[in-house]
Amino acid sequence: SKKILEDSYGRRVTGLRISITDRCNLSCMYCHNEGADCCARGPVGNEMKPELICGIVREAAKFGVNKIKFSGGEPLFRKDFEEILSCLPPLKEVSATTNGILLEKRARTLKAAGLDRVNVSLDSLVPEKYERITGASPGSLEKVIRGIDSAVEAGLTPVKLNMVLLKGINDDEIDSMMEFVRPYKGMVILQLIELMDIDPRLSKYMINSKALEKSLAERASEVKVRHLHHRRKYIIDGVEVEFVRPMDNSEFCAYCSRLRVTADGKFKPCLLVNDNLVDVMGAKNSEEIEKLLKLAVSRRKPYCMPVSTLEQEEKA
Ligand code: GTP
Ligand code: 5AD
Repeated sequence: SKKILEDSYGRRVTGLRISITDRCNLSCMYCHNEGADCCARGPVGNEMKPELICGIVREAAKFGVNKIKFSGGEPLFRKDFEEILSCLPPLKEVSATTNGILLEKRARTLKAAGLDRVNVSLDSLVPEKYERITGASPGSLEKVIRGIDSAVEAGLTPVKLNMVLLKGINDDEIDSMMEFVRPYKGMVILQLIELMDIDPRLSKYMINSKALEKSLAERASEVKVRHLHHRRKYIIDGVEVEFVRPMDNSEFCAYCSRLRVTADGKFKPCLLVNDNLVDVMGAKNSEEIEKLLKLAVSRRKPYCMPVSTLEQEEKA
């Protein structure tokens, strides 16, 4: 049998996105909670042990998975994150998405343990706005900025700043965010993310970023495409800006190459679907993990319509 993981839509899985805790020190107004049911913040005792996490990664790596993204909740809540990193097999890229508040003191040890780079959520540079969006206490924004500096110094680069675009809240800050990023000279990338309006109360903040992307594209001196993801990156006045449009029908799902693992040990075929999880917590050996991994891959289904289907429909 082929040593790759491919779903029935021809989409190959090359990455795992592993939530290592549901705990978090923020309560962002838009948080999708990595797709967990809204009130499903499980108790700490249900979190996967490092041995299981590494067992899963080792098994996936045998099938060509070479990118691991750790997320949360807030992944830095795991005191044993370095231990988790230390037991991973060799991979192309190991990264984490963090809110950055606890990053300053950990950046060096995380790098030493094998973390390659981080994404830091940063939606505003105005303290009051930052606190309003995230529910953070005063002084937190400064901690995040020190965390970013520390990550750059430790070589957790390029650091991506995740900015979720919110109409009427931070949509006037794109230029100031670019000014903030510029002095890092390529070590920091700005990632502009279209809001996923997972809750009707969020609809009023939704910005269709297509027009925005077009206007930024016109200012760009260079355009790159991340082909695996089909995401476009623009170099604008020396600043790299990447767009993420997570609900884009024609591209995002069609090029999805990742499988998720929840903090309580379940393979999760799709961020937006909760009725097809595959429990791996009780797996006793690598054969069992392999079987469950393949089952989860077989349950992958594009949430949005894949490009090929759209093309076929257009032809019909
Ligand atoms: P890298 O660019 O490789 O660091 O990964 P990433 O940008 O995907 O990771 P990050 O955790 O920073 O997520 C960025 C955005 O992608 C988030 O805002 C999510 O909303 C969106 N996203 C991540 N995973 C999924 C997914 O499985 N489905 C959908 N629809 N959106 C996702
Ligand atoms: N829409 C878009 N991005 C989101 N994130 C969390 N919730 C949403 C949402 N509703 C992003 C944050 C964070 C990353 C883990 O997911 O930017 O950086």
